[in-house]
Amino acid sequence: MSNPILLITGASRGIGAATAKLAAQHGYHVIVNYRTEAQLAEKLVNEIRQHGGQANAMQADMRDEASIVALFDQILENWGPVCGLVNNAGILETQKSFSELSLERWQRIFSTNVFGPMLCCQQAIKHMRQHQLKGSIVNVSSLASVVGAPHEYVDYAASKGALDTMSKGLAKELAAEGIRVNTVRPGFIYTEMHADGGEANRVDRLAPIIPMQRGGQATEVAEAILWLLSDKASYSTGSFIDVAGGR
Ligand SMILES: NC(=O)c1ccc[n+]([C@@H]2O[C@H](COP(=O)([O-])OP(=O)(O)OC[C@H]3O[C@@H](n4cnc5c(N)ncnc54)[C@H](OP(=O)(O)O)[C@@H]3O)[C@@H](O)[C@H]2O)c1
Repeated sequence: MSNPILLITGASRGIGAATAKLAAQHGYHVIVNYRTEAQLAEKLVNEIRQHGGQANAMQADMRDEASIVALFDQILENWGPVCGLVNNAGILETQKSFSELSLERWQRIFSTNVFGPMLCCQQAIKHMRQHQLKGSIVNVSSLASVVGAPHEYVDYAASKGALDTMSKGLAKELAAEGIRVNTVRPGFIYTEMHADGGEANRVDRLAPIIPMQRGGQATEVAEAILWLLSDKASYSTGSFIDVAGGR
């Protein structure tokens, strides 16, 4: 039997890349989606293959519906239906107070963090229904959806709040069909995303306010994602796992 197909969006680096490596070890055929970093994605795919795993890199922009539809069509044509989806791609922008934020910025953030995952869910559900798969979707939100990220990125936090609500509603809509939808909410994790917000050392600065007194690693988030994807989480849907050191 062929390995189940798992699509991880935004997997060229950070939490997505860590999840791709772990998923390949768990026997998934991993589709490593990226937007711009083709070389990083190919490097990751080669690494997975060298360890005996199955993976392919696929470019698609989560802000673009046609690009997302084409991605799912190509996966189906080449390897078969998606039975797992990790909506991981996400962006934030420079730390600013709320009054300084612009509509253009909100549109970029919500397109990537909310509409992209919603469109991917629609496509994944189509694959799962047509092939009668008991699929599993994991959305990568953020603890920012709970705490609001004041003075940094309230817009990013609001986008993750929307993602949380979508996950909850969709989980209930699909539960009777055997398709599960769950959410992981990371806290401060060591990735390059913080440099995009203008503060590469943000995790170290904030470590003292984390009950565990340290930032998290991408692999620690990946473990939670893999559990929710797997049959071990067979009675969990509409659930949230906070991977945030006790915050
Ligand atoms: N790091 C944290 O502390 C933290 C905390 C809470 C939640 N999260 C969430 O965890 C997820 C991963 O974060 P991370 O820290 O690993 O981020 P990261 O290191 O900045 O990586 C982001 C990934 O998303 C991809 N991406 C961005 N825009 C995309 C688009 N339009 N289409 C397709 N791919 C796109 C990037 O691809 P390219 O590089 O190829 O463009 C990259 O692979 C995000 O949803 C983030 O909000 C992170």
